[in-house]
Amino acid sequence: EEISYKDSITAAKDSLYRFPLIKVRGIPLMCHIADNWDSIWAFCPDPSDILIATYPKAGTTWVQEIVDLLLHNGDAEVARRAPTLERNPFLEMYSPPPIPSGLSLLKRMEPPRVIKTHLAFQLVPEGFWEKKCKAIYVARNAKDNLVSYYHFDQMNQTQPEPGPWEGYIHKFMNGELSWGSWYDHVKEYWKEREKRNILYLFYEDMKEDPRREVERIMRYLDLSLNDDVISRIVELTSFNTMKDNPMANYSCIPKVVFDQSISPFMRKGVVGDWTNYFSPEQNELFDEDYKQQMEDVNIPFRTNI
Ligand code: A3P
Repeated sequence: EEISYKDSITAAKDSLYRFPLIKVRGIPLMCHIADNWDSIWAFCPDPSDILIATYPKAGTTWVQEIVDLLLHNGDAEVARRAPTLERNPFLEMYSPPPIPSGLSLLKRMEPPRVIKTHLAFQLVPEGFWEKKCKAIYVARNAKDNLVSYYHFDQMNQTQPEPGPWEGYIHKFMNGELSWGSWYDHVKEYWKEREKRNILYLFYEDMKEDPRREVERIMRYLDLSLNDDVISRIVELTSFNTMKDNPMANYSCIPKVVFDQSISPFMRKGVVGDWTNYFSPEQNELFDEDYKQQMEDVNIPFRTNI
């Protein structure tokens, strides 16, 4: 009989603390991902599989919930069949046994599967592009993304210790955090989006007009749902509803891994929280560096929000 995800984490709890990062083709990843890199790289999707790709903390879980509801005609009961991480396997995730890897969860499911990844574009198994899979990318403005990641690294006991805020900003700017450089991540997917038919979304657009973005995702998935169903999906995927939904708020992950008493997974869900963290000096330094790192590509991020 299969052991539940929750029980598998509890069983492995003594080996789940602050994994070191190991670089794969220049990109720092959790050691267990790096150790199993060959099998991740060899993964071959079905053409009907859908990829959801993000830099960590850009709004992955939000888009996962929207896509799941779109695919099930807004049926809240179906969307509550299992926690997010079991509904949408995390492609590259490998943890100590007996925790099932993303690949083993995928193997148990029939296509079409919705697959989550944080991998940089060049690390995504090529089968996704050869098979012309649909792929949705979500980007979030750098400063809010950084603030969200800072809180996440405090509560996620498997991520490297974030250390003090000041140093964390530099780690972010230098691409030293788990899954690498935010700058390269958002730029590579942006450059590839037309050739690969990637739907490139912005967290800030989703906050501004969630219905418009839900409809955009619906059209991309070649679905056509009626207005009432769309309204229901918008409501079911609001921050407050997801925060209270045990199948979407990661409360299924035991405290040894996600210590939500330090910072909840559904933390604030707003645009502009960075203004509560950046000093004027840090902001100036960050902007200066940002200009240089982003000068080669013009992505329409709405800055200064
Ligand atoms: P904050 O830490 O800024 O609150 P990911 O799913 O990629 O890990 O991203 C998590 C971030 O998205 C968190 O940001 C979380 O609160 C936010 N988030 C999750 N669901 C959301 C929703 N329905 N609406 C707005 N933000 C949401």
